Amino acid sequence: MTRPRLYSGMQPSADSLQIGNYIGALMQWRELQQSYDAYFSVVDLHALTQPNDPAELREKTRRTAAQYIAAGIEPSKSTLYVQSHVPQHAELAWVLSTITGFGEAGRMTQFKDKSARYGTDATNVGLFTYPVLMAADILLYQTDVVPVGDDQKQHVELTRDLAERFNNRYGATFAVPRPVIQKDTARIFDLQNPTAKMSKSAESDAGVLWMLDDPSVSAKKIMRAVTDSDGSVRFDREAKPGVSNLLVIYAALTGRQIPAIEDEYAGRGYGDFKKGLAEVVVGEFGPVRDRALALLDDRAELDRVLAANAAKASEVAGATLNDVYDRIGLLRRV
Ligand code: TYM
Repeated sequence: MTRPRLYSGMQPSADSLQIGNYIGALMQWRELQQSYDAYFSVVDLHALTQPNDPAELREKTRRTAAQYIAAGIEPSKSTLYVQSHVPQHAELAWVLSTITGFGEAGRMTQFKDKSARYGTDATNVGLFTYPVLMAADILLYQTDVVPVGDDQKQHVELTRDLAERFNNRYGATFAVPRPVIQKDTARIFDLQNPTAKMSKSAESDAGVLWMLDDPSVSAKKIMRAVTDSDGSVRFDREAKPGVSNLLVIYAALTGRQIPAIEDEYAGRGYGDFKKGLAEVVVGEFGPVRDRALALLDDRAELDRVLAANAAKASEVAGATLNDVYDRIGLLRRV
């Protein structure tokens, strides 16, 4: 019996992933790869929408792949590859861009945020068409589900719209995917600014927990996390965003329920709670970090794994793109 298909990816936009990526996405990926035919890419073409030093981009791409594996993605079970190794992504993105409305693309909130942040002169066309490339990633693989954090939901909705539009115009070609978003952990916030999403591209490093940070650095960042003056370890998103965020991280990494953690720390101060969380974070990421660094010690082996997986991905992507080219009327080379 064929398993339903799953697709997801991350940008190699920093030397390390941050724990929002881990809790919001990687933990689900690890679990879902058991029951889905899963494809996970390192989306290096997407990362080109920001300025990059070429050597650093190559390094970040390998590091991102190593962190997927270190976090439990099994390259013998799932197809883990680098987006640019499969040229059909860029080719399908072009076709999809011709059925995407200008206004439709302009309504994507991530584009609006980024272009507002960088200003029109620094905003490139790639940033505008970014969600169309993401749709191509997903649709090439006849994907059923896309596990992401909630910041990507709108992009997956656009992907659905494009799939349906294409299917209506040219006949059933693409599976119509649905987003899978874990409600409780869909958004992990910055430790210093607990109403802003934790992000690889945050302006300050102090509120970001990097997966590859030295454990002592992570512990320090947790001890310094912004809380409030109320003093009780209690979940209340509105009134206590800092403490609530820490509780979500604690619960996600331990698999415990938030009320049980509140009970454990009732009548104790934030210092104790943060110390407890620091132990949890260091316990979880210490081994992940060690595994990732070990994988990066043997780059030839890592590159070999990525190449073998890209070959597998190309077969599926090639079949979909051929079908698309036939349907839209491109003359095929004989
Ligand atoms: P990226 O690289 O920004 O993030 C990767 C994944 O991590 C999730 N995430 C978070 N979840 C919870 N809290 C946070 N603070 C947090 N920060 C990030 C994101 O939601 C995402 O799931 N456009 C995508 C990459 C992409 C993709 C795809 C994803 C390209 N093609 C196809 C799925 C399918 C992105 O920039 O993710």
